[in-house]
Amino acid sequence: MVESIAAALRDQVRQAAAHPGGLAVLTGAGMTAESGVPTFRDAMTGLWARFDPAELASERGFRAHPARVWQWYAGRRDGVRRAEPNAGHRALADFAARHPGVLTVITQNVDDLHQRAGNADTIRLHGELLRDRWFEPCPRSSTVGPPCDPATARAGEPPACADCGNLVRPAVVWFGESLPAAAFEAAERAVDACRLLLVVGTSGAVWPAAGLAARARRAGAVVAIVNPHDSEIDEQAHHLIRDTAARALPALLGGVPT
Ligand code: OAD
Repeated sequence: MVESIAAALRDQVRQAAAHPGGLAVLTGAGMTAESGVPTFRDAMTGLWARFDPAELASERGFRAHPARVWQWYAGRRDGVRRAEPNAGHRALADFAARHPGVLTVITQNVDDLHQRAGNADTIRLHGELLRDRWFEPCPRSSTVGPPCDPATARAGEPPACADCGNLVRPAVVWFGESLPAAAFEAAERAVDACRLLLVVGTSGAVWPAAGLAARARRAGAVVAIVNPHDSEIDEQAHHLIRDTAARALPALLGGVPT
């Protein structure tokens, strides 16, 4: 990272740290790359290379090939469970511990590495890979009360309800599905309130998450992008840090006086 940009940004971090909600961080799959979890668009390797992730990560794809989609997610779940938070995740958690109430982490990622590092209140825009939900609304919930628990489903690929055959799916947002409204509204409030937005490890290819950088800029925040490569939202950045999450975040967030 160019030292002059780093120095300017560290000063921005120090100023943001003086304000509640002063720092917001939006992360994408690049945040997890140095934990050994392939980025979303790099994940299509090996036997999955011939499939389109937008097809697999969709209701249509699940309806057409439930076992294939379930197996793809099972492999991604195994990868996340084997992974550990990296220095970038730890830098965010350490900052939050030293500066309570300053940092909001907003993630597009569906893994649990921010939470395992210590940012338990991370705003999840695209759901949770390690959690299950029903594919169709549970019929019981419309007649007799709370829905059945997906954990009680009959084992299979995918598991299915023993009573009505409802399939189990991962609790992630699929292409064509809406983001959880409460999460996205919380993310909008966070970028409206922040003094500095760090955008880390995202191609900026998927909306509405990609629009948060422009929203922060319109609200008067300084926007910095951490990404070794170009992204589709680079023009929204005041600063471009051509570096990785695990190198840049400790350098930017470490040592900020409490
Ligand atoms: P992508 O795979 O589209 O982009 C990952 C970005 O991380 C790329 O711009 C890389 O250059 C960058 N990158 C790679 N290694 C990095 C590192 N070590 N440090 C920092 N950056 C690095 O993943 P996303 O932008 O997160 O949505 O994709 C957004 C969404 O697309 C995903 O959340 C997913 C998909 O649709 C859902 O699953 C709903």
